[in-house]
Amino acid sequence: MASTNHLSDPVTFGEDLAGNLQRVLEIAPEHCRDCADYHIRCVAHRATGERFGIDFDRPELVAVLGDLAGRRLAERPGRLDIVIAGSADTGVLATVAHAVSLLGEAALARCRFTVLDLCPTPLLLCRHFAAEHGLDFASAAVDLTAPGERFPADILVMHSVFRFIDSRLQPAVLKELGSWLKPGGAMVFSNRIKTRTSEETKADIAKRGAANALFGAMAERGEIKVAGDPGAVMKRLERALYDDESRVGEFRTADELKSLLAGGPLPLTHFDEIVCEIGGGDRPRYRRKRVLAVLTAPG
Ligand SMILES: C[S@@+](CC[C@H](N)C(=O)[O-])C[C@H]1O[C@@H](n2cnc3c(N)ncnc32)[C@H](O)[C@@H]1O
Repeated sequence: MASTNHLSDPVTFGEDLAGNLQRVLEIAPEHCRDCADYHIRCVAHRATGERFGIDFDRPELVAVLGDLAGRRLAERPGRLDIVIAGSADTGVLATVAHAVSLLGEAALARCRFTVLDLCPTPLLLCRHFAAEHGLDFASAAVDLTAPGERFPADILVMHSVFRFIDSRLQPAVLKELGSWLKPGGAMVFSNRIKTRTSEETKADIAKRGAANALFGAMAERGEIKVAGDPGAVMKRLERALYDDESRVGEFRTADELKSLLAGGPLPLTHFDEIVCEIGGGDRPRYRRKRVLAVLTAPG
């Protein structure tokens, strides 16, 4: 059954967020080790229409990815390998495929999209998305701190995954994944800056709490269809309320992240600080900084 929304759709990016919710509720209990609450929360919150994760720097990402893919496709014949290292749902894949789709059907047909994650759940969501849109797709459940395999890439995308990786391991992971780049290839690196001040932490928890309440209300009103017991889903969302407050690899300042990237083996060719407005209305409002960087392999 062809997807009703096209990859080039600037609102949906071809994603079926309601369908993802049905699928993740079936897949996660079977495939997630200890991350079912997290993966269900990510999908459930996005299904409410609230902005999460990938939604915060999508326009900037599309611009950078479109430029990199366009130049690479013009420079070289043959297939373009795009590797996505870590993905909570279909958000990053949809963003990359959208950026390429704006270059035309021929460009899209030359791209292979490979998604890597520790957990099979987001990989299965991405496999379904790829089939819906006829993408050349591959995936592998790997631990990026010990991948045991190489995935040669023209473009490698890392969105918000380093906060899950112990700061002491980050230089080695950056070096290993950087070595997967083909000559002249590029790593697109996006991550939030989380100062962990008390008001920022309170606001983050309030934001997730509000999204939980919105999800519950929309499910009750039938605006979101929840297969199985909505109460069980709400319990998962409540359990996942604090899971994002104890990540091992957070960056407190943009300079901290810059020194990690600039200290690595690859030239840092783009470093953009993006400020996102979060909250507002009856919720605490705060400004979150993100960094969007590009590292380019010689060649
Ligand atoms: C990439 S991040 C954040 C997601 C991003 N904002 C998005 O929209 O996809 C979350 C993902 O990283 C994965 N992850 C965490 N640690 C990992 C590791 N060591 N190796 C591979 N994947 C990892 C988690 O399983 C999760 O699916």
